[in-house]
Amino acid sequence: MRKITFYDTTLRDGEQTIGVNFTTDEKVRIAQALEAYGVSAIEAGFPAASNKDFDAVSQIARTIKQSKIVGLARLVRRDIDAAIEATKDAAHRGIHIFIATSPIHREAKLHMTKAEVIEKIKADVTYTKQFIDDVIFSPEDATRTEPDFLIEAIQTAIDAGATMINIPDTVGYSTPDEYGALFDFFQKEIPNYDQIGWSTHTHNDLGMANANALAGVAHGATEIQGTINGMGERAGNVDLIEAAVALKVRQDKFQVETDIDLAQSMKVATAISQMAEMPIQPNKAVTGRNAFAHESGIHQDGYLKNPATYEILSPDMVGAHASLPLGKLSGSHAVMSKLSELGYEVSKCDMIHIFPKFKAIAEEHSLVSDEQLCDMMRQFHVEKAV
Ligand code: KIV
Ligand code: ZN
Repeated sequence: MRKITFYDTTLRDGEQTIGVNFTTDEKVRIAQALEAYGVSAIEAGFPAASNKDFDAVSQIARTIKQSKIVGLARLVRRDIDAAIEATKDAAHRGIHIFIATSPIHREAKLHMTKAEVIEKIKADVTYTKQFIDDVIFSPEDATRTEPDFLIEAIQTAIDAGATMINIPDTVGYSTPDEYGALFDFFQKEIPNYDQIGWSTHTHNDLGMANANALAGVAHGATEIQGTINGMGERAGNVDLIEAAVALKVRQDKFQVETDIDLAQSMKVATAISQMAEMPIQPNKAVTGRNAFAHESGIHQDGYLKNPATYEILSPDMVGAHASLPLGKLSGSHAVMSKLSELGYEVSKCDMIHIFPKFKAIAEEHSLVSDEQLCDMMRQFHVEKAV
């Protein structure tokens, strides 16, 4: 099976989330958690951005031994030099350099012609390559770039020594069919496609970041770039946990494997959410607290007969637990099962009297607690005795 690697940018693109500002100590702990989770590369920061970023990247470079440590740089010599210097002590290191290629970015932001952009890519990838072998190149806003110019930019970077091409859907504009087709297009147009790595980099502005990353993989990408919990600028990046779980659960379709230790998913998501002071939305796929909670009577009944009726992955797989919260839609099967867990063995006959009591409580409260159930049973036994 083809191996798909994971490149985490929680500490760079993820830290661009509004209100998030990790301390250096937190960044080192996050990098350690990511390494244990099995990501092959950690984009530890943007060293030219500030002394704090530079120091954090240096410290992570000295601490992490397995994952590759990457510094981000614009095609600006000062940025490149800072990323080279900050990662110098890493056991494995890389540099991620980027320049925007789309017309709107070239004209409104960079004020550069196509020829100038190509010249810059050639000169700066060549320069970088003298110091670092592993050069990741991104044509920023790739998905809104003219196809011919995108090929020219990518081919220029490859010819100058780039070892990995990253395809940013910078503003989350692409659809899965379009994003997947881009990788088909590269395979057709880039003669040495198989000799380098290709990564997806998808943003979630239209809620398609995960679908787009998976489409990239299905069409020949070898790596997924993203963040934990989908942190990132605006609506964020693809959540690496969701992507890794989807590749595993739908291995029948994707036919790929990864080094991600999925059982650590909840632990990693929770730790990073706490450090970021950014709660995970309750209904978030995989790591939300409702992701394995079944409330309605029909679902609870099916789940109790066979969890696979309403679970496509076992919560154990990602280090989570299933729950059957009791509320106004719950059925008697789930209530009996919960009462049994609490030590009350209730006959079907008794349930005829107990269930309406449960419903009355549930209608007044969004969820019925264990304490409320015990009070209800005490009251039931008193009434039964008289
Ligand atoms: O989204 C983006 O384009 C980026 C680049 C720096 C690769 O994060
Ligand atoms: Zn990005």
